[in-house]
Amino acid sequence: MAGAKYVCRIGKTKPVFLISSLKNQFTCHTRKDVFCTHLRGITTTPFPEFQGDPQLKSHADLYNASLQNPDYFWGTLAKSRLQWFQKFNQVKDCDINKGHIRWFMDGKLNASVNCVDRYAKKTGDAIALIWEKDEPGTEEYVTYRQLSQMVNKMANMLKSSGVGRGDRVAIYLPTSPVAVAAMMACARIGAIHSVVFAGFSSDALAGRIIDADAETVITADEGVRGGKLIPLKQTVDAAVAQCPCVKRVFVYQRTGNDVPMNKLDISLDKEMACQSDVCDPEEMGSEDLLFMLYTSGSTGKPKGIAHSTAGYLLYAGITQKHVFDYQEGERFGCVADIGWITGHTYVVYGPLSNGATTVLFESTPTYPDPGRYWEMVQRLKLNQIYLAPTSLRLLLKEGNEWVTKYDRSSLRKLGCVGEPLNSEAYDWYNDVIGDGKCEVVDTWWQTETGGIAIAPRPSAKGAKIVAAKPMRPHFGIQPALMDKDGKELTGSNVQGALCIKSVWPGMARTIYGDHKRFLDTYYNPYPGYYFSGDGAHRCEEGYYQITGRMDDVMNVSGHRIGTAEVEDAMDNHAQVAETAVVGYPHDVKGEGIYAFVVPMGDVDPEEADALKAELKLMVKTVIGSFAQPDKILFTPGLPKTRSGKIMRRILRKVADNKPDELGDISTLVDPSVVEILVQRHSEEFKV
Ligand code: WTA
Repeated sequence: MAGAKYVCRIGKTKPVFLISSLKNQFTCHTRKDVFCTHLRGITTTPFPEFQGDPQLKSHADLYNASLQNPDYFWGTLAKSRLQWFQKFNQVKDCDINKGHIRWFMDGKLNASVNCVDRYAKKTGDAIALIWEKDEPGTEEYVTYRQLSQMVNKMANMLKSSGVGRGDRVAIYLPTSPVAVAAMMACARIGAIHSVVFAGFSSDALAGRIIDADAETVITADEGVRGGKLIPLKQTVDAAVAQCPCVKRVFVYQRTGNDVPMNKLDISLDKEMACQSDVCDPEEMGSEDLLFMLYTSGSTGKPKGIAHSTAGYLLYAGITQKHVFDYQEGERFGCVADIGWITGHTYVVYGPLSNGATTVLFESTPTYPDPGRYWEMVQRLKLNQIYLAPTSLRLLLKEGNEWVTKYDRSSLRKLGCVGEPLNSEAYDWYNDVIGDGKCEVVDTWWQTETGGIAIAPRPSAKGAKIVAAKPMRPHFGIQPALMDKDGKELTGSNVQGALCIKSVWPGMARTIYGDHKRFLDTYYNPYPGYYFSGDGAHRCEEGYYQITGRMDDVMNVSGHRIGTAEVEDAMDNHAQVAETAVVGYPHDVKGEGIYAFVVPMGDVDPEEADALKAELKLMVKTVIGSFAQPDKILFTPGLPKTRSGKIMRRILRKVADNKPDELGDISTLVDPSVVEILVQRHSEEFKV
């Protein structure tokens, strides 16, 4: 069978599973061999690069220097941490007023050299990737040398098919070594990769391929998740049928099951097998785009957030090392999918640029049971785990025994990201998962910031972590809170729009193909500041707590979903006149999706459920199943102002069961609609 797994054994040690179709390129390794090549416990001082500088002794000195003398601070780090073909001759050229961000001018480097080659040369037997496949206990290990071979072969494969510098490559793959190699192979030849989360529908994938004008797609026959097969190739076929720009589709055999191969399809496994494992890396400019990643915004059209090569790489590496106190030889377990920025930065670029061992998690937190994460921690001896609060909320309901039966003593740092960490989830993470012995780092950042921007670590020695708060700005980040009139709020105990008034290397450079939208979204709302779209509170001690999105973007299980995207999908239904979607508090997902739908004419109560199912299907088809509404309410109208604007504030209160807090509704064209909404909501959802 094509998908049969190749097993190699060394002496009496445990078997290690390698990728079947790529087996000839690999040498065999055991966990033990590789673990011994590392020595734990190098210095824990942040930025040893500055140890010779008598001015920069403390954490506060370093933070201040990062803001007051950014050229010295980032220039020193960029020189010592990155490998350059040609050194940069100017640290930065930035004008935040204009959203003009450029770092490390005239420098030349290659991200794949920094993430793969230098470690393949130095510590080639060290494990780069642990592929934690869907079935527990079937993990595969890939050393830096093996990864280097894969990357070079794949780079040659792309090159020989005509892919070159600046070309966009869409990657629609499960979290796997091949996906990492695909990202690195693009970087090696200077192509810009656009990883699309493999849960997006064919329409959503097509939209992203067309927007990026990508000629090349890399996918797999099927994905495997939670014991189920996911028909990735079928989705790609439906997407590619809508994309005249696509010239080739590489298909990796994840399961080896038969899938129809069309005229644009090329077997990735076969094509790679006949390529040389030497591919000279392109010398890329610091500011050449490394990748783009689509994220939701206030309109229905997703934004291709574009990141540069040098700045992103430096920032990803610095934050992975220092926020999680990553030490050489440790095993870093970020369980995010590579289709979201968390996976991009903390599964792939951050750890690999530090020569770390990183986990690629293919499964779900509850497969085969709610002990999966902790069984994995025990089996793989992970030192850090980085996850989303939504999975903590899901798992804590299942009881502590799923945790306590596994040995978690290898864990040192517990990270989370993507949504506010509520105190119940924080306590469970800290007390039960970490046994009160690990630091919990609640990290705030965004696709646009490239890496962690606010987090409890690194910090001055002895500084305590305040429960469930991202707390302090990272080096180079100067947060600001703005009031309604666009003025910066000073002092403590204030709440406002979260902006950043400094520039840092990891920040996004543009929205691919739409720089005006980039400026309008991030720089024009508060001139001289980067606007995050979030609200935040600064407490007495000066620590930051995120209060949630201020725009029409929902945060569902840590995924950003624009209300407009869901509305557009549902509005396509012939029986729908209009839709308004809002988020509402959901005890597991953080936010659930609530759709208020105005149908064409009345809906027969007998047919209401069928129509709801059709509407959910529309969302699944246009976006993906993760964006399907949790609740749908049919209503004869929506609360609108005289200028036709939907008052979402009112819808949010209705959805949140707070009819007493509706406030002033006198400006509505038809205030009586609110009464109908409240009544229907309470009947439908029995509140
Ligand atoms: C939210 C994910 C509260 C926030 C890395 C942000 C958070 C959006 C936190 C970015 C946190 C992220 N506490 N909210 N620690 N971290 N968020 O682009 O609303 O997928 O704007 O990046 O997630 O989501 P994105």
